[in-house]
Parts: sequence; C-alpha cells; structure tokens
Amino acid sequence: MKTQYHESATLHVSGEAKYIDDLKISPKPLLGFAYTSSIAKGRLKSFDFSEAIKVNGIHAILSHKDIPASNRIGAVKHDEPVLVDDEISFIGQAIFLVAAESEEAFLEAKKLIKVDLEELEPVITIEEAKKQGLNLDIPRKIERGNIQEGFETADFVFEGVTISGGQEQWYLETQISVAVPGEGNEFKVYCSTQNPNETQMLISEVMGIDINEIEVEIRRMGGAFGGKETQSAIYAIWATLLANVTGNPVKVRLERHVDQQITGKRHPFETNYKVGYNKDGKIVALDIDFNSNGGAFADLSMAILERAMLHAENAYFIPNIRILGTVWLTNIPPNTAFRGFGGPQGIFNIENIIEKIARNLGKDVTEVQFSNFYGENERNITPFGQKVELNRLYVIWDKITESADYKNRRKQVDEFNKNNKYKKRGLSLIPVKFGISFTTAFLNQAGSLVHVYTDGTVLVNHGGTEMGQGLHTKMQRVAALEFGIDMNKVKVNATNTAKVPNASATAASTGSDLNGMAVKNAISKIKIQIAMTIAEHFSSKYEGEDSYIENITFENNKIFDSIHPERTIGFAEATVLVRLSRRSLSSSGFYATPGVEFDRAKGVGTPFFYFAYGMSISEVEVDLLTGKIDLIRTDILHDVGDSLAEDIDIGQIEGAFIQGLGWAVMEDQKYDKKGKNLTPSPDTYKIPGINDIPKDFRVEILEGNPYPNTIHKSKAVGEPPFIHGLSGWFAIKDALWAISDYKIEPELNFPATNEYIVVAVDKILNK
Ligand code: MTE
Ligand code: HPA
Ligand code: MOS
Repeated sequence: MKTQYHESATLHVSGEAKYIDDLKISPKPLLGFAYTSSIAKGRLKSFDFSEAIKVNGIHAILSHKDIPASNRIGAVKHDEPVLVDDEISFIGQAIFLVAAESEEAFLEAKKLIKVDLEELEPVITIEEAKKQGLNLDIPRKIERGNIQEGFETADFVFEGVTISGGQEQWYLETQISVAVPGEGNEFKVYCSTQNPNETQMLISEVMGIDINEIEVEIRRMGGAFGGKETQSAIYAIWATLLANVTGNPVKVRLERHVDQQITGKRHPFETNYKVGYNKDGKIVALDIDFNSNGGAFADLSMAILERAMLHAENAYFIPNIRILGTVWLTNIPPNTAFRGFGGPQGIFNIENIIEKIARNLGKDVTEVQFSNFYGENERNITPFGQKVELNRLYVIWDKITESADYKNRRKQVDEFNKNNKYKKRGLSLIPVKFGISFTTAFLNQAGSLVHVYTDGTVLVNHGGTEMGQGLHTKMQRVAALEFGIDMNKVKVNATNTAKVPNASATAASTGSDLNGMAVKNAISKIKIQIAMTIAEHFSSKYEGEDSYIENITFENNKIFDSIHPERTIGFAEATVLVRLSRRSLSSSGFYATPGVEFDRAKGVGTPFFYFAYGMSISEVEVDLLTGKIDLIRTDILHDVGDSLAEDIDIGQIEGAFIQGLGWAVMEDQKYDKKGKNLTPSPDTYKIPGINDIPKDFRVEILEGNPYPNTIHKSKAVGEPPFIHGLSGWFAIKDALWAISDYKIEPELNFPATNEYIVVAVDKILNK
C-alpha cells in the first residue's frame, strides 16, 4: 500500500476538523476552572467562599464536600482525590471548582476565596523519597541465572548510575472536556481522551450514577502521546460535577501553562547498575536497580516501571541478570504514560552500559552491540522467559549498516575530527526491540460495531481513539479490504462508549492490532449473512445449479462465486438483497490477544504477543564553543510487518524519532526545591522545532517481513521508533569523546542541551 492519506487529512489542513473546543453546544457552556494549590505539600485547614460566590458571572463554587459519591479516583489504585479534602500533594492540585461565565469572573472570584493552608516540607527528588522510605508498592524483581557467579567469571566488572529526565507530552490540544446534562441522570461528555471507557467509569463512581447513564465521546484528539491515557479523566469529572450543579453544559479547558504545570509527565529514572563482561565484549552478568520518580499518586507508575524492567536488556541476550525496580512518591504532579511507557528509560540504561564496555575495550560500539544481540537457540530467551521469535535484528543490521555506509562514514568522522579543533562529529547506532501488548494482560481486548447500509456504505465503530496516529485510517482500510470495497465507502465513527463498551485505552501501540481484529471479526459475521443471501440469489438465478456460501468472494466492489466467476453482483446491490431477505447487515465484533500473560510476583511469563524491531544511525556535528548541534544525517530502518498504511507508518517513525530526540537532547524538565515547575511553557521548555529535523533524514520500512499472526500481517508502530531518538544523544557523546581522542569519558547530561554540552566540553578540557 503506497500512498495513503490520513482519513482526516483534508479537514486537518483546511482547519475544518472538529476538536472539542470547536463543537457547537447549546446552551453555550459555562467555563469550569480549578482553584489550585500554591504549595506542594500541606493540609487544607479551612475555607470560605461566601464572598466569592457573589461575584457577577459566577454560577457555582464546589469543594470536596459537594462531591456526590466518591472523592477518590485513579487508574489502578484509587489514591487520588478529585478535590483536596485534607492532604495537599503537589502544586497545582485542585482544591475548588468554579463555574463561571468568563475567565475574568473566575479571576475576580479567585481573589475573594479565603483558604487556610498549612504548609509542610515537600519531597521532590528520588534521593529524598528514598531517605524517607516513600516507595509506592513493594519493589519488583525479574531474575535469571546467577549474577554473583557471572561477576566472578567475568573478565571485567564496573558499576555506575544512569540518569534520564522527565518529558512533557506537549500535545497541541491541551486537556479539555465538555459535559452536557441530559434528562434524569444522563450526561453526555466530550473528552479529549485515549480512554473514554475509564472516563465513563470514573464519572460514574464520583457522581454515584450508573455507568449506562453516561456517554463519553471523542471524535479526535489534537495529540495525546500517553498524556491522555489516565490524566484526561479528571477534567471530564470536573466538567460533570459543575454541569450537575448548574444544570448547564460546562467546558473545562486548560491553558498551556496550566496544563504543563498540573499534569504528569514522563518519569525521570535513576538506575544503578553493575555489569560483568568479557574481553570479546559479551556481557555475562548484569545487576540493575531502576528507581523512578512517580510524583504524588500511583497513576500508571508501576506498569511504566514494569515496562522499563521488561526492556532492561533491549536487543541483547544477557545470561545472568537481576532487574530490580522501585517507584518513589514525591510532591510533584503524578507522572504518567508517555510514548514508550518506561521502555525508553530501560533501553537508555543498557545502551549506556554497552557504550562504556566498548570504550573500555577500545572497540567500536556497534561491534559490542552486535556481539550481544539475541541469537538463535539458547541465546533467544528474555530475562522474563519469553522466547525471542522471528528476530529481525540481523536482517535490519545488514541492510542499515550497508545503506547508511556505516564503516566508511565512521572513517570520515574520525578524519573530520582529526582536522577540526572546535567542531567535532559523532556517529551512533541504536537498535530497538520493543514488546507489543499491554503488560497488564486483561487490557489486551477490543470491541467493534460495524453497520452496512443499503447503498453499500459501511460505518465502523471501534473502541480505539484517534490522536493523529492514523488508527481510524487503518481501520477504514481493514474494513475496505475485508469487504473488498473502496476505502471511500467506509466511514469510521467518533469513538463512543454507547457504541462499543468496556474498551481499553488506546495505548501500548496496540490500537490497530486489537481494534483491527475486532473490526475484522464483526465483518466476518456480516459477510456470512451476505454470502448466504447471495448464494441463494445465484442458485435461483442459474436454475438447477447450486452456489455455496464458502465460494462467495468479496473483491473490487463486487461479490462473485469463485467457481463460477460470471455469477456476480455489485456490493451495494447485494446489500439491498440482504435486507429484502430479512438478514442483518450489522454486527458487533470482539478480539482478545491469545497467549499473553505475566506473573508479576515471579517476574516470568509471555507479556508480549510479539516484538517490533528497528535500527537508527545518526551523525551529528557539535560546535564545542556554543554547544550547538547539527543533525547531519539520520537513517532509520524499522519493522512494521506488512504495513497497513505506509505513509502513515513513515510519519509515525519520523515523529517518534524527533520526539525521542527532544527527550534526549532538548527538553529539560525542572522543578525547584519547593516543587514548583520551572519550565511550564515553551519559553523555558524547548521542544524540537522544524530546524531540529536531520538535514538528511532517511526513514525506511523493512520490506518483506510480514508478521504472521496480526491483522493483515502488520505490526504496531506508535511507540517503538521513539527509541531511535537516543542515537542523537549517543552521537553527541561520541563527538565529545573525540576531543580527548577517546581517553576521557564526557560527563554528558541527559538531556544533552546546548548548555550541558558546553559544560561537558569544559570539564574535558580542564582535566
Ligand atoms: N501519534 C500522534 N500523531 N499523536 C499521538 O498522540 N501517541 C503515541 C503513538 N503515536 C500519538 C502518536 C502513543 S503514546 C501511542 S501508545 C500510540 O500512538 C497509540 O496509538 P496506536 O495504538 O493506534 O498506535
Ligand atoms: N502500555 C501502555 N499503557 C498501559 C500499559 C502498557 O503496557 N499497561 C497499562 N497501561
Ligand atoms: Mo502510549 S504511552 O501507550 O499512550
């Protein structure tokens, strides 16, 4: 499938695509605002809004006392208050809600709200949380072999720590929800969310209203990147609470700087490790202890830690390994899902280790990477016991080292570095092996509801959400392929909890795998109804001869008998016959990924349906005087099985790389000692811009490697290519190594911003 436009491409570029803020809702929604905490830790002692409520244009002010049923929400643990009722846990946590006719009215009322807070000393860092023993849950462990024996037999052993930073999702559409009261207990809620079902369930719990009274809908999001997997729900809840008391639609929409201050981000990680390896570069033993900064509440932190642990070895076979992990609670907003979901943090650590081994041995990093790759037979079992099957590392390696001309370019880079004092170049290859499936096994399920109309058009409903990744386009294509009709005959509906119930979040890159199969399942049932009708029709038309439903074939907008291809009828015509013969042209569908399970207590199982693979090679030029970097060239070869939509997949790979690059070299997320976010807007927080795209950017899909067990042999693409961004960081470090002719290890910060590069250069020159 060559060119494939996103189903909303025209609407996107013409500005007609409707996002939640564009919806015309009557009566006009009131605006919902939160009065938030200015301290990171403390207690709510008393409050009084008797004056504030009198302000013109204020319709309601709510505290925790006005919550109809439960004041605790959360994706896994219900540990998060909707509104502060006692303890305050981070700056920006909501204490009161206000329904106002305008922002001016809210700001006026805000000044008149009297509140007495007791301030306590906050905990911001992992170190401090460790000192105070503030771990969320018991530490996790995955272990295989015997690390002690491994360290004893290894030629060399070293220890170290790997630190990676947080990252703001920076979806272009900030968090937004509109709640519209209906009759009785009904609410229709529009929420920019990856997780309409969880939103619906949490509204039900907080309001004390049955789930079937609440309908949550989302046409599309203006980006999500994990930031709307759990953390969008609270705005839908606020809107519903305020709509309930005012009897009017209410819209909650966060301004950029508010969104950035109060929402959770990628987890910063600090990882201690000890590694044993041999002269040939092969790792024999590895001990890893992951520590993440979870922020104020549980959110998805344990699942994110788990995915880091399940990616601790990336593409490498490590015979003796112990992986420990702990999440630490601190007084910053609860950190949450972000593309890769802990995987990037886990992979950064092992790549950091591999790089050090190579430097210690005076070998090229790629040589050490290659010699540790998962192989066949005994070298193909992960630390958690899953077999690495259909390993694509070698085919990708062969192709990309050749097409990117790695060996020659390595020489050219070395040559450049010999001849240049103030500019250095660096080169890095990063492999990725990424596990596909929710590691929480029950989430690997999806539903659909497909309708066929008598003009031959198809309406697909499925439980997945569109955030720009092209899921709806892929579902449109699946339906078109299954029915053998043109894509423009298929429409994908807005995601709605009343159409498909109990859906999982669109996350873990599983959207097309899960929903694709559910759509196919629904269609297969409708096709039986159509085939029965058409077999009868052909039999009656060609007297004395039978047609069999198993011979009825759907192709080129036609239905025909494969034994007698002259017996044919148009798809649209056939739908009319099905209706006349009183058969159903509609069906629900369902899919559950077979064979995935993971025993958390033991740290063993088959958490992933399969692995997605890829490799990237980046070359940078670093200006040592200013720290400015230029990405000269990046090559990526990535495995998506047989693509469901090539152009969309290329877009996902390009975007993921740039987003990963942002994490690794630009985005410096900072909190001060009091828990204040020092980087809450684009003037202090630098995300990649158009000039940060590599000058020469060559992204390719691995052709000819279908995956046998997925929808149309495709593979998930959303998150895995995020890892390629790390090649930017390692290429910078490679360039800095060249300053000392590979004698002094650069102390390069993560992210490697221009400022930190200058600091690292300075340290090398002053050694
Ligand atoms: N692409 C765009 N344009 N916008 C997004 O928000 N989210 C990413 C990825 N690609 C995202 C995106 C994340 S975090 C995930 S898990 C997947 O898309 C989810 O969609 P999928 O399962 O359909 O790939
Ligand atoms: N990935 C993304 N989201 C999730 C996962 C996962 O593995 N588990 C639970 N939510
Ligand atoms: Mo993606 S972080 O799994 O929403």
